[in-house]
Amino acid sequence: MLRLASSSASLADGTTLFIGGSWQAANDTYQRFDPAHLERSTGTFASATPEHVASAYEAASAAQPVWSSTPAPQRAEILRRAADLLEARVDEAARRLTSDMGKAIRDARAEVLRSVAILRYFSGELLQPAGEIYPSADPNTMLLTVEEPLGVVCAITPWNFPFAIPTWKLAPALGFGNAVVWKPAEWASGSAVFLTEILAAAGLPDGVLNLVTGKGSRLSSSLTGDPRLAALTFTGSGEVGVRLRQAVADRNVKVQLELGGKNPAVVLADADLEDASVQVVRGAMLCTGQRCTATSRVYVERSVAPRFRELLRQQVERLVVGDPFDEATDVGPLASPEQRDTVASYLQIARDEQLEVITGGTIDSPGSCFVTPTVLAGARSDSRLMREEIFGPVLVVEEVDDFDAALEAANDTEFGLSSAVFTKDIAKAMAFVRRTQSGVVHINRETAGVEPHVPFGGLKASSSMNREQGKAARLFFTTTKTVYLRST
Ligand code: UN1
Repeated sequence: MLRLASSSASLADGTTLFIGGSWQAANDTYQRFDPAHLERSTGTFASATPEHVASAYEAASAAQPVWSSTPAPQRAEILRRAADLLEARVDEAARRLTSDMGKAIRDARAEVLRSVAILRYFSGELLQPAGEIYPSADPNTMLLTVEEPLGVVCAITPWNFPFAIPTWKLAPALGFGNAVVWKPAEWASGSAVFLTEILAAAGLPDGVLNLVTGKGSRLSSSLTGDPRLAALTFTGSGEVGVRLRQAVADRNVKVQLELGGKNPAVVLADADLEDASVQVVRGAMLCTGQRCTATSRVYVERSVAPRFRELLRQQVERLVVGDPFDEATDVGPLASPEQRDTVASYLQIARDEQLEVITGGTIDSPGSCFVTPTVLAGARSDSRLMREEIFGPVLVVEEVDDFDAALEAANDTEFGLSSAVFTKDIAKAMAFVRRTQSGVVHINRETAGVEPHVPFGGLKASSSMNREQGKAARLFFTTTKTVYLRST
C-alpha cells in the first residue's frame, strides 16, 4: 500500500526539510539557478540550522530500533517499490536533475535509471545470506555470526550525480536497517527533494530518512558532532572529506569517504586507436568532465602519438555542446558559475604555462557556464594541471617512450581511483592490472562508469579504503555479532 508523507515538499516556498516524516520550512532560504539558463530559478530551498540537524538525529534515532526489527523482506519491498515509482517518473526526475546541475538530458535519464537499478539490486541483496555458520570446538555449540545495522548514518552527497550517488548510499544504509540523516550538496537540492519524496511514498516509516537541505559549512559540525552518529558516508572533495574524518576521529564512528581522482589512461602502440580515442573522449568529456572517475591524463606511446592526438581532436570536435535539455546534446554546461570559475582558472594556468592547445581552451562567454571541451599537451609532470582534480572537460595528453614509462607517469599522483590501459597484448594488460595504483582498473574501456553490484572505491588519497556498492555496502552498513549457541 502506498502512503503519502503527512505534508508535501514545495520548491516554491522552501518547504524542503524532511524531518520525522513531515516537510518543513526554515527561516532562511536559498535559491538555485539552472546553469544553462542562469536567469531561471530552479527553486527556493530551506537553509537548515543546527537545530534542524539535531531534530533530524532525534527523529532518526527514535525510528531506527523499530525499523531495524522490520523483517528484511519488508525493507526490501520498500526499496523495490521506490525503484518502480522512480522508473515511472524517469523523465520528470531527469529534467529535475538537468535543471539542478546541467547534465545532458540523455545522461541525466541514464543516471535516474541507474538509481532504479541500484534500488532493485539492493532490494535483492537484502535477501542474501546475512551471516555465517562455523564449526565449533564444542560439539554442543553452534557458532555463528549475524549482521546488525549500525544505527544512525549520516550521508553527505555531492552535486555531480544528484540521483545515483545518494541512491547507492541510501539504498544499502536504509535497506540494512539503519536510519539516515541526509545532507545533499546545495546544487543538487531539487533532486534530493525528488528522491526523498519517492522513498517516502514507497513506504519508509516516518523518521527513517531525514533530509536537511542547506550549506555544508553551516551544518558540518552539527552533522559530525551529534552523539547519535554511528557512521558517516561522504563523496566530495578531499579537503572536506579529511576535515569530516578529523571531526569524528576521537569517536567510534565508521567512515567511508570518496574523494576524487586524477585518472590516467595509457594508450599503447598496438591498441585499436580509433576505439581508444572514442573511449578516452567519453571518459574525459561526458558529464562535462565532472566525475571523480573522469579521464584527465593520457599517456600515449610515442610512435602512435601524432595519429592518436589527431583522433582525439576529431572525436572531441564531433561532440555536441549546448542546451542540456536538447536530446542531441553530448556536453552541457558546467554545474554552476563557481565551477566555471574553477575550470577557467585551470585554462588560465594552461595559457600561463604555454601548453599546446589541441582543441578547445575557451569559456563560451564571460557570463556563461559553457566551456569548450579541451585537449592540451606539453604539461610538466609537476604542473597543477597534472596534479589536481579539475572537474571539467579538460584532458592533457603526453607522449611516453614505452609501457614502463607510461605506468610510472600514470602512478605519479596522490590519487588512485580509476585507470585504463588500451592494448591488445594480454601480458601488458595483466601487468597493468597488477601495477596500476588505483581501486578500479579498465582494460580497453573509459575510466568512468560504475556498475552497482561490484565494489567501487579508490586507493591512496581517493578514498578511505571502505568500498561502496555491491557486497562492500553490506560490510560497511552493518556490523557483526558472533553467537556461541549452546544447548544444555
Ligand atoms: C561514474 O563514473 O559513473 O563522484 C560514477 C563521482 C564518483 C562516481 C562516478 N563517485 O564522480
